[in-house]
Amino acid sequence: MPAHADPYRAIDRQPDPEQYVSFLEARGSTPSQVRLRRRFLRLCGIRPGWRVLEVGSGTGVLSRDVAALVGGRGRVVGVDPSRVFVSAARRLAREHGLDGLIDFRVGDGARLRFPANRFDCALAVTVLLHVLDAGAIVGELARVTRPGGVVGVQDQDMGSLVLDHPDRALTRRILDGVAARTIVDPWSGRTLVGQLVAAGLTRVRLITDVFQDTTLTPFTRAMLERRAENAVRFRLASARAAARWLETIERLAAERRFVMTLNFYGAAGIKPVTPRGPMKDRRTPCRE
Ligand SMILES: C[S@@+](CC[C@H](N)C(=O)[O-])C[C@H]1O[C@@H](n2cnc3c(N)ncnc32)[C@H](O)[C@@H]1O
Repeated sequence: MPAHADPYRAIDRQPDPEQYVSFLEARGSTPSQVRLRRRFLRLCGIRPGWRVLEVGSGTGVLSRDVAALVGGRGRVVGVDPSRVFVSAARRLAREHGLDGLIDFRVGDGARLRFPANRFDCALAVTVLLHVLDAGAIVGELARVTRPGGVVGVQDQDMGSLVLDHPDRALTRRILDGVAARTIVDPWSGRTLVGQLVAAGLTRVRLITDVFQDTTLTPFTRAMLERRAENAVRFRLASARAAARWLETIERLAAERRFVMTLNFYGAAGIKPVTPRGPMKDRRTPCRE
């Protein structure tokens, strides 16, 4: 596996994997995120009774929303390579009263252990930007979806991250420099339509949502603190400059002048009844 410092490629090997559990849950509960997730799921047109797969399910934020949509007659399966995330997702589903409604399993999205056409819908949310083989994962989502079913993917695009800060040069260096070193494809959001078309999906639609924070929520604060920490680690800024950068952000928030926005792109396509393109040739044997 080629080296890349993106922690989401190997959560279980991080010094403190539990911190990522808190981070994903904090992000998931931010009102702006709740809204953009709802809009993405509406784009996917999930109906009661559907069997839905989520690849890269993390702590289960999206799977829990999907479980509410498909109801007791439906089925939700979450697959993630991280044992820490799968065990947190099971615990959180229990705590949300969804015990038995979602099946979380350890697995690799590029090699799914499901037969072809098993699901009505297959999803991956903020996953493709963190993997080296996004095409293989989208191919697998398409393979396990039934003809006429929906494949949906959503990613942020770090090229659209906007933060108002008086030191613009340092802000660019920290945001772009750290993203380039810690995210496999920081510009993944804008590639999603192309990914679905390349996998042979039809009627591909795009929805663009803006994550907006004007209060410095715990999720945003944690993200910016991590950026500053990494900027020092990658020698993009001195420890003093990074600390000052964060202090200014806190001051802007205290003065109610904080503004950060980030575009999220969601794309959904239909698996054609007559396969076209690469999907036709993908015959991964059923290992279940
Ligand atoms: C940023 S998290 C997103 C988690 C969740 N979808 C959410 O939105 O809260 C990225 C997820 O992708 C998972 N991931 C990384 N490589 C993967 C792969 N090859 N197949 C499936 N999931 C993968 C990580 O373990 C992590 O759970």
